[in-house]
Amino acid sequence: MRITVVRGDITEQQVDAVVNAANSSLLGGGGVDGAIHRKGGPAILEECRRLRAGHFGGGLPVGQAVATTAGNLPAQWVIHTVGPVYADGQDNLDPLASCFRESLRVADDLGARTVAFPAISTGVYRYPLDEAAYVSLWTLARTATSVDEVRVVLFDQKAYDAFDCAREALDPSDAQVEAELRSVPDATWLEAFSAADALTAEDRDFAWGGGQKTESGAIQMPYPVYSDRVRQLYRSLPGANTDWMKWMPGNPLLRDPARLAGAPVADAARLATVYVRGERFNDGVFGRAVQDGSVDAIIARMRVWYETER
Ligand code: APR
Repeated sequence: MRITVVRGDITEQQVDAVVNAANSSLLGGGGVDGAIHRKGGPAILEECRRLRAGHFGGGLPVGQAVATTAGNLPAQWVIHTVGPVYADGQDNLDPLASCFRESLRVADDLGARTVAFPAISTGVYRYPLDEAAYVSLWTLARTATSVDEVRVVLFDQKAYDAFDCAREALDPSDAQVEAELRSVPDATWLEAFSAADALTAEDRDFAWGGGQKTESGAIQMPYPVYSDRVRQLYRSLPGANTDWMKWMPGNPLLRDPARLAGAPVADAARLATVYVRGERFNDGVFGRAVQDGSVDAIIARMRVWYETER
């Protein structure tokens, strides 16, 4: 599937299906919803009303999708989906990702081969553009579908720039990461596994050096004092690739170490990259990841891949 990012008006897209950033009522609104109903005409609303009278009596739940005619739009169908209203402290990512996954599932059911998406939830629903861009493109890139082209249509330059920038996070793909992992020599894998297996409580509880006054009167920068095993693990940890510039703290796609077990091994490599690159300023990033078990979670996921999946 090809993912393209364009500026434009989603109601003008020559595609099989247009995705609408609807609300649960399915009875229209502003933004994309308003534009689609306005230009698509009453036939769309009539079908939405029938959906509300039938299967979706209680409204379309957040993260789900349903199709209607596209009325007077160039497209054949409108796929209505309801994004999350962004709220701090709640899980915003999964419901937004579900909108893209479920819309592609409906598109597959329809036999649509080209689908246009808006920047769901980034308007009235206040989802921060940068994070929404990562989550949206990432979900599209990872969803198996028969759709040939997905076109993300951005209405203004700010939204376009956010999505254009986030596109870089799609590289390397999971497949490219796994290809890199396959090129790591067995000796390196075995060195990392044995270093991880040998870690003791003392290894994990590292001290800090530096901080003394030098002859010139300057204060020496503090630095973490790692044991030989931690340094061996840092040197041999497979998968870390400091060229992957988008993979750094703050990237919303970084997997929680506790959830690595069920994730693609590429996510373990991306997390390894964050910890290894983070150490280049000697500020203890890697040591803390050893201390809190994150590196153990990475090793565990990679060991399963190394022994049973590669
Ligand atoms: N084409 C493409 N994108 C558009 C268009 C258009 N014609 N009109 C607006 N957008 C962009 C907005 O700039 C924003 O980036 O779509 C994105 C989503 O904004 P909204 O339409 O406000 O959708 P959302 O944030 O998901 O909020 C949904 O708003 O319109 C109501 O009924 C809708 O209650 C629902 C809520």
